Amino acid sequence: MKTYRIAAIPGDGIGSEVISAGVEALNACAKRDGGFAFAFDHFDWGSERYKKTGAFMPDNGRDLIRKHDAILFGSAGVPDVPDHVTLWGLRLAICQPFDQYANVRPTRILPGIVSPLRNVSGPELDWVIVRENSEGEYAGVGGRVHRGLPEEAATDVSMFTRAGVARIMRFAFALARSRPRKFLTVVTKSNAQRHAMVMWDEIAAEVAREFPDVTWDKMLVDAMTMRMTLKPETLDTIVATNLHADILSDLAAALAGSLGIAPTANLNPERTFPSMFEPIHGSAFDIIGKGIANPIGTFWSSVMMLEHLGEPSAAARLMRAIEKVTADKSLHTPDLGGKARTADVTKAVCDALAGDNQAN
Ligand code: IPM
Ligand code: MG
Repeated sequence: MKTYRIAAIPGDGIGSEVISAGVEALNACAKRDGGFAFAFDHFDWGSERYKKTGAFMPDNGRDLIRKHDAILFGSAGVPDVPDHVTLWGLRLAICQPFDQYANVRPTRILPGIVSPLRNVSGPELDWVIVRENSEGEYAGVGGRVHRGLPEEAATDVSMFTRAGVARIMRFAFALARSRPRKFLTVVTKSNAQRHAMVMWDEIAAEVAREFPDVTWDKMLVDAMTMRMTLKPETLDTIVATNLHADILSDLAAALAGSLGIAPTANLNPERTFPSMFEPIHGSAFDIIGKGIANPIGTFWSSVMMLEHLGEPSAAARLMRAIEKVTADKSLHTPDLGGKARTADVTKAVCDALAGDNQAN
């Protein structure tokens, strides 16, 4: 029997609560499937470690997880460590060297969840946002001089490479092709940003020729926020730069009902390195330790992990279990306006898995 080795990194805040829920659900999934098992290795990397030792992960951290089949990540961030230090010390320190350049963020309104949009209940909003995850505005290029002086100056240079743009466009067109509508929207800001964004548009048009069966259109990012809100049914697969997609994916999560549900996959499509799966929500300091964190974002991220591992039946089964549970309002956590606890939702998902009699 195949055993998948998973590196579990709960990180900070509610990370440990949702990751232990995720481990439970994944084990229930493997048990129901019968064809594979999981072996989880837990890593205590995060801000507590940083405060004690000066580093979020050990020097050889990446070597410790390089051979794992996947990484399940919780969240990163605490009130007393600056966010940029945490991000670059842990999450980006994994994503960038492991070349997880495709960040995939599906958004749907799950059964039982209410969208803040009037007249939008489900089928009208079914998107996948593909976020360029290795360069652009998050390239880390820039600097700061004359600190504290009146002439202090700072730059953050967004850096785009032909190779980086072409590979994310190919990934996005291929993903669009795999979905029923075969439709891609390329987000840009090439009216104001006249170098990199113009190259982005040109490469989109070049790659489009390799995918004649995919229809595509182009949207300026500001107008995109209106289209997402006013005409959600006109969108399907979306590709955007690192920062644009960061912003649009929060909007998408809110329009679909809650950030507590939204999943993400940081993929290294070539599989040279492990890919990383995580809920989009952050550490949520206000609810740490209360047992009320919504584990659905982690469960849905686990569905993406199962798909990546090549277990489509188990992935579909876990997704069915999630939808069965969200449909029942008595199983909604407080972020969804309910009173359920993390443990209630987790148990309900595990029970739904055990009781799922569908063959695939
Ligand atoms: C996300 C988050 C991160 C990002 C934060 C935590 C730095 O907002 O994954 O969307 O901007 O990449
Ligand atoms: Mg974000």
